[in-house]
Amino acid sequence: MARKIIIDTDPGQDDAVAILLALASPELEVLGITCVAGNVPLSYTTTNARKICELAKRTDIRVFAGCDRPLRRKLVTAEYVHGKTGLDGVELPAPTMALQDQHAVDFLIETLRTEPEGSVTLVPIGPLTNIATAMQRAPDIIGRIGQIVLMGGAYFEVGNVTPAAEFNIYVDPQAAEIVFRSGVDLVVMPLDVTHKALTTRPRIEAFRALGHIGEVVASWTDFFERFDMEKYGSEGAPLHDPCTIAWLIAPDLFTGRRINVEIETASELTMGMTVADWWGVTKRPANALFIGSIDDDGFYTLLTERIATL
Ligand code: RIB
Ligand code: CA
Repeated sequence: MARKIIIDTDPGQDDAVAILLALASPELEVLGITCVAGNVPLSYTTTNARKICELAKRTDIRVFAGCDRPLRRKLVTAEYVHGKTGLDGVELPAPTMALQDQHAVDFLIETLRTEPEGSVTLVPIGPLTNIATAMQRAPDIIGRIGQIVLMGGAYFEVGNVTPAAEFNIYVDPQAAEIVFRSGVDLVVMPLDVTHKALTTRPRIEAFRALGHIGEVVASWTDFFERFDMEKYGSEGAPLHDPCTIAWLIAPDLFTGRRINVEIETASELTMGMTVADWWGVTKRPANALFIGSIDDDGFYTLLTERIATL
C-alpha cells in the first residue's frame, strides 16, 4: 500500500524536483500539495505547483493555497536564488488546472481528521506556517499525524540566510517552534545533509539526457545553482528539498541521529537558528531524527531513474 503524503511547499526549483520525484514514485500517494509563501509570494508558489503537476501530466493532483505570510514576522522571500517567478529556468506554460477553493490549512485539518490515525505523512519543504496554523487551529490533529519529514535547519552548516539560520526556519521561526515542540515524530533534513547533495555537471547532464522533463529539470538546476556556487565556491548547488522524498523512498541512503532540536525565537541575532543538541550535552528529550549524511551518488541515481519514468 502506498504511503499517503501531503507536500507543503514554496516552489522553488528544488521543491519542483521534490514534487516530480514524489509523483514518479509508486511508493507514495500524494493526497495534495499545499502551497505556502516562502521562496516567492503565495501567488507564484500556487502557480508554480500547478505548472509542475502539468509538466508531470498529473492534473489529478489537488493544489491548495495556504498562508501568504508568516505567523508573526514579515515575509522574507528568496528571488535572489530562485528568480522572480521562483521557477526561473525554461519558461513553462501558464497552468490551466484549477487551484482548489479550500484553504490549505482547512485541507490539512480535514484530511488528518478523516484519514486513519497515523496514516498520513506531512512533507513540509518550505516555511512551516501552514503546518503550525493547522496545529493551532485544530490541536486534535497533532496526535493523528503519522510523521513529519521536513527540509529545514542546520547544525555544522549553521545558516544560509543569516549566519545562524536556514531559510525555511528563518522565515517563520514561531511556526517552526510550534512544529518542533508538537511531539510529532519528526525527520529533519538540514543543510548538513543537503549540502552534500550537489548538482554537479555530470549529474545535471544526466537529467538533460532524459528528454523533455529532464531538460526542464536541468534548466532549473542550471539557474538555481549559480547563487550557491558563487557563495560557497562549490561545484554545484545543494538540491535541498528532494532529500525529504528520497528519505521516504530509500531511507538507507541517509544516516542521522535522534537528538533534541529547539528553535531560537527570541534574539534577532540568532532568530530561526535550530539549536541542535548533536552531542547530547543537554538533558532535553530527543524530538527529531536529524539527518547528517547521504549517499549522494545513490540519491542522484534514484532521482534520475525516477524522473526518467515521467
Ligand atoms: O534553505 C533551503 C530551503 O529554502 C529549500 O526548501 C528551498 O526551497 C528554500 O525554500
Ligand atoms: Ca522549498
